[in-house]
Amino acid sequence: DTVIVLSGGLSHERDVSLRSGRRVTQALQDLGVTVLEHDVDPHLITLLREHEGAVVLPLLHGEAGEDGSLREVLDLLEVPYVGSSGAACRVAFDKSIATRVVAEAGIRTPVQVALPHEIFRELGAAALVRALGQRIGFPMMVKPSRSGSALGCTRVDEASQLPGAMVAAYAYGSVAVVEEFVTGTEVAVGVVERSGGPEALPVVEIRPESGTYDYTARYTAGETRFLCPAELSEESARACAEMALRVHEVLGLAHLSRTDIIVDEQGVPVFLETNVAPGLTATSTVPIALESAGLGFGEVLLELVDLARR
Ligand code: DAL
Ligand code: MG
Repeated sequence: DTVIVLSGGLSHERDVSLRSGRRVTQALQDLGVTVLEHDVDPHLITLLREHEGAVVLPLLHGEAGEDGSLREVLDLLEVPYVGSSGAACRVAFDKSIATRVVAEAGIRTPVQVALPHEIFRELGAAALVRALGQRIGFPMMVKPSRSGSALGCTRVDEASQLPGAMVAAYAYGSVAVVEEFVTGTEVAVGVVERSGGPEALPVVEIRPESGTYDYTARYTAGETRFLCPAELSEESARACAEMALRVHEVLGLAHLSRTDIIVDEQGVPVFLETNVAPGLTATSTVPIALESAGLGFGEVLLELVDLARR
């Protein structure tokens, strides 16, 4: 019963993926599972053919990994894998699309404008700054529509910072999203499917020392404090868990996801985004939540592998 852990890949989050891969491989090996850790390269198809019946655990973060393209290849090859389908990932990974789908289901989302690079070029920065200032107001968040780990994300406090922030987002892809900045507490809620169906893990509260949960704060030990359970009211924590479960359902996700949320100053959760290949590194929130729930990391992964095999 071999598990093929896919990690690495070609995205900007390659290094994060390698870390997730090493951690998961170790946890499964500790349970006596035969694990092949593999990168995405031309030998992958041969490897999959040679190990028919093996289950793939795709731990590829970022574009060309989390965007569904690789999973569509696995779908085509009829290789069982842990996680959401290629089609679901396409929607979930693109913030401009996922936010619309989630908002239409009645879930609270920030006011958001998606801006393809061609529009930025045609209208020019000055006109956009005026329009976005009116539509969204300051502070605002600028993000690449399709990326992860806060790469290319900038908080913009005044008009003069907006063009630079947009250029930074376009470095990661051709569409940027500009959003209302929601002040509050940042939390992450993992969802794992177990025998009884999807379950929300305990809410993890994220407190970066620098005040910003950027790439450094995410992957440098000691740069962020994680509180699990979160210091939220019982009602807010329950609302966060419900939101994560509802998003998992609305986006048609499978097995494992993590929804990132801001709990605003009134204690109301606002959806930020959902990850179809949440980080499983030593400083990622899903492993922290599993531990807090008293669930074994490797054991839960094995349950997901069994679900994928069915
Ligand atoms: N994109 C990273 C891996 C995360 O969300 O955990
Ligand atoms: Mg993300």
